[in-house]
Amino acid sequence: MTFVDDTRRFTDDAVGAARGAASLDDLEEQERLHLKSKASTHGLLKERIKREDDRAAAGRLLNEARVEVERAFAARRDELERAARAESMVRDRIDLTVGGGEYRRGHLHPVTRIWRELEDVFVGLGYKVAEGPEVELDWYNFEALNFPPGHPARAMQDTLYVRLGEPEQVLLRTHTSPVQVRTMEAQKPPIYVVAPGRVFRRDTLDARHSPVFHQIEGLAVDEGITLGDLLGTIEAFIHALFGPNINARFLPSFFPFTEPSVEFAMTCVFCEGAGCTVCSKTGWVELGGAGMVDPAVFEAVDIDPERYSGFAFGFGIDRVAQLLYGIDHVKNVWDGDVRFLRQF
Ligand code: DAH
Repeated sequence: MTFVDDTRRFTDDAVGAARGAASLDDLEEQERLHLKSKASTHGLLKERIKREDDRAAAGRLLNEARVEVERAFAARRDELERAARAESMVRDRIDLTVGGGEYRRGHLHPVTRIWRELEDVFVGLGYKVAEGPEVELDWYNFEALNFPPGHPARAMQDTLYVRLGEPEQVLLRTHTSPVQVRTMEAQKPPIYVVAPGRVFRRDTLDARHSPVFHQIEGLAVDEGITLGDLLGTIEAFIHALFGPNINARFLPSFFPFTEPSVEFAMTCVFCEGAGCTVCSKTGWVELGGAGMVDPAVFEAVDIDPERYSGFAFGFGIDRVAQLLYGIDHVKNVWDGDVRFLRQF
């Protein structure tokens, strides 16, 4: 066999082996056999050049053959690598459409929701939202509201005192009414404010009482304010919150800081007034207290009671949440049990 024939056979065999390689490993093995080592076909042909008559022509011929073979291996390597990459794209793919663990979106606590709804209703009626401290002075919680020291009306509220300052002068506020006084001290009429907030009493926990609860206070002071304005305002927010079938009822009452004073109730939402166990068969549930601001309170904050009159009201937010959502025991509201809260 001549050198030319053998070189041609080398080219055909090697190019065929490159094209036929099934994997990258196989390709490498074929490359080694045909091209890469001293014992390869190419290695042996290279040895033979020395013995050829026209060495230069033999060298050129083998060189051309080698370039062609190398190109065939490179092309096949490229193909195999591309196929491997495509395969791993499929094999190692992460399916982002498969959901992960379950995350549920939470929601506001029912009391927070009512708190905000009440703010919205009163802001809609032209009121501003006011705030006061939870740790309060006797002056604001009692004295300026016309509860003098030792007055029996103080016994209406089981106070928690704080060991700070003068004895029995610093306390956890028992109602949101002190915000009335703070507001009237800070600004002159016309005043239209509501003050929602947390209040504290030395009460034993039962279905409707908790030592920590929430109230919202309202105060309107202007020229010519009457009891009729108070009754209309209370009826308006009850309708806004509970709908037109739920009405307000007023009964005479007593609070030191209002004269006259009323207690207000609304139609029982459970029986719509027919009478059930929630309303003790009366058809009404009590909500809060209200009245016309007592002139003594105006004097404590330097507002002229001859020129201005006003009304005030206060009621429990937790109570409204209980009624609106049908929560039987107030303890459920504060346990923080998500299984319970998730229902609302
Ligand atoms: N602060 C009273 C309480 O907690 C409720 C109350 C009664 C508020 C009459 C008022 C009011 O503003 O005028 O028992």
